[in-house]
Amino acid sequence: MEKNFRIYRNTFDMDYNKHFEGAFCQGNGYQFLRATFEEGIDGEEQGEIYTREFKSVTTEKQRCAITKWGTYIPTIMGNNPQLNEVIINLPYFMDFNLLADGEKLSMNRCDISDFSMVLNLKNGCLTRTFTFNTKSGSTIKAKYERFPSKKNKHLFVQKITYKAENRDANIEITSGIDTNVTTNGFNHFMEISTTTNDDSITVVSKSDMGNTITQSSYLACDKEQVNIIDNKFNVQYDLKENEEITFIKKSFSFTDMDNEEIGIEGELVKSYDELYKENSQVWEKLWDRSDVVIEGNDHDQLGIRFSIYHLLRCKEESEYRSSICAKGFAGEAYYGRYFWDSEIFMLPFYIYTNPNIAKNLLMYRYNTLEGAKENARSYNCKGARYPWQSATTGTEQCSLWEYADNEIHITADIVYGIWHYYKATDDIEFIKNYGAEIIVETARFWLDRVDVDKDGNYNLFNVMGPDEYTAFNCNNTFTNRLVKFNLETACYVIQLLNETDKIAYVKLCDKVKLDNKELLEFKKVAEKLILPDYEKVQYIPQSENFDNYADVDIDNLWKDRKNPFGMYMTHEKLYRSKVLKQADSLSLAMLFKTDFTIEQIKNTYEHYEPITTHDSSLSPINHAIVAGWIGKEEHVNKFLQYSLSLDFDSNRNGAKDGIHIANCGCMYQFIIHTIAGIDNALINEDEIPMSTSYTMPKGWDKVSFKILWKNVSYFVTVDKNGTKITKGI
Ligand code: BGC
Repeated sequence: MEKNFRIYRNTFDMDYNKHFEGAFCQGNGYQFLRATFEEGIDGEEQGEIYTREFKSVTTEKQRCAITKWGTYIPTIMGNNPQLNEVIINLPYFMDFNLLADGEKLSMNRCDISDFSMVLNLKNGCLTRTFTFNTKSGSTIKAKYERFPSKKNKHLFVQKITYKAENRDANIEITSGIDTNVTTNGFNHFMEISTTTNDDSITVVSKSDMGNTITQSSYLACDKEQVNIIDNKFNVQYDLKENEEITFIKKSFSFTDMDNEEIGIEGELVKSYDELYKENSQVWEKLWDRSDVVIEGNDHDQLGIRFSIYHLLRCKEESEYRSSICAKGFAGEAYYGRYFWDSEIFMLPFYIYTNPNIAKNLLMYRYNTLEGAKENARSYNCKGARYPWQSATTGTEQCSLWEYADNEIHITADIVYGIWHYYKATDDIEFIKNYGAEIIVETARFWLDRVDVDKDGNYNLFNVMGPDEYTAFNCNNTFTNRLVKFNLETACYVIQLLNETDKIAYVKLCDKVKLDNKELLEFKKVAEKLILPDYEKVQYIPQSENFDNYADVDIDNLWKDRKNPFGMYMTHEKLYRSKVLKQADSLSLAMLFKTDFTIEQIKNTYEHYEPITTHDSSLSPINHAIVAGWIGKEEHVNKFLQYSLSLDFDSNRNGAKDGIHIANCGCMYQFIIHTIAGIDNALINEDEIPMSTSYTMPKGWDKVSFKILWKNVSYFVTVDKNGTKITKGI
């Protein structure tokens, strides 16, 4: 058994149940399942109807405190009248119920001992074991194993075993596909029907966005014939003392959004072990290219692998119509929507370990370019304006206006992601066919969004930067720098195509109707867009106005640090106070390190870190990255542990409504940029660009990983002697 690849839940405590459902979430890039119990939890209704109001997710109290099923296929979204497009919770095919000596198994009501749940990060297989001590005196050992197949993305496999330990016992199981499910308290199914034939149960549902989802389950039992009664599999059996009975349930999901035809017949005849092996082999390859091996600190090793596991399960190579939602498809907190998290926080992991996935994440943006254009038009602007919260179409889904109207940096962040991908892979075909169009259309949008002042300079007024506790900035430095980059990249890409591929150049100019006049405008605005004089101020101010805001006594106001600071102050007051939700200027330092001297980055850190609340999970790891660069060893350890704890440490209960997947992605960036000292691909062209690496976090002796750089694989090791990079492994 490989060391440090398993995470455990050994206590059965309802207060943390929802957290484990998120933390142990399974997925194969196509389908995602929260780690709920097959039989559910007694008394916890999954088809409850209620109204979820649109609120800031950071301070919103989520419904369903104990358990929440989650069965998602990201291309299937629903239309909620209050909330807009949301990912929908599909019928529950994991359903499996046990009666032992007539007593219904329920983890919260029955006498259960020796409980354990283990997620094998190596292959995504989840195992639950426990003893069910029935009121009648039987002791039933139960084992539930399950995994979504990475080999056949439509397949989900369950194996359930019961053993009568102390005497003969009668068992009866029922298992079907539960259709009594809602999402955010809303029923998204216009039609739903269950049919059966000799060996299977099939549910066909039609969503309120017009999609058809077909789910079929097959059940086999090694001891007894399986009957179907009232649309459910049914087996009754008298187990002898020490006898075991095993059930294998195979469930298949298909939708009208599928982009590949993968059959099921072959899978029906395969044994559990064969399917398990096939799944493990695919995972093995993924780990081989993405693992980060840490010697010396088992806790941190497991925490980093936990993050990599979630990144690996979140995306499969062939899907280009979805990105990765902010909760890693492990909960409904952010409605299954896509943010800047994808391009800035997660994309680099895929760029450097599996560029095909990185490309498809960006293809999602190409696919929603028409929506982004519609968005721009709705603000009376030309070009393309990507939405703050995106779903299937690329039109704005966020119904809180401050974010939708003002958090415009997302549009330029996407261009940063495209260019980052291109620089690390040299995939010029992607740029020619898709990327350049996005880059030009977004650049065009900025021409209308900027305001010129009397000195002929361009400004971005009324902007929310990454720090969402400051809604109305004048010239937010992060946004302005990214916009400048967007405009400059548009000029550069046009020049590049013009010089290297005339056909592609003409094709692009024709398609986007670009002329020289507009190109000159891009150049002019890029040059004259206001940015601070760093030489003079010696730090990165968040914006022109932020540092004039009112001081806040954060320590006194923040009564209980288990809650976000945002719960102790109204948004209106936050918007005029010197308090930050998340790293803003430090995010800029992370992306454009060489714009600044180390002294300037250090000053920025010291200026803003004391007033940053980290109410956004994107913030701590960004701090760890920068703290390493400026030699703040204690802070590196503090923020690394903070970020590791977000979902990994059950005491925080952090994963209850999903995984903080951007934090997982940025943890990988911490390894490559801060620990190994590799700069990101935007900084240098051909060789892997290196700066001085940071000394190791507490207890770490050695770190090693593989990284892809311009289609060549490198093996990197870091220890007390520094970073060593070997080519071609
Ligand atoms: C953060 C955003 C982030 C979003 C989704 C918010 O709390 O402020 O920066 O994009 O969560 O993760």
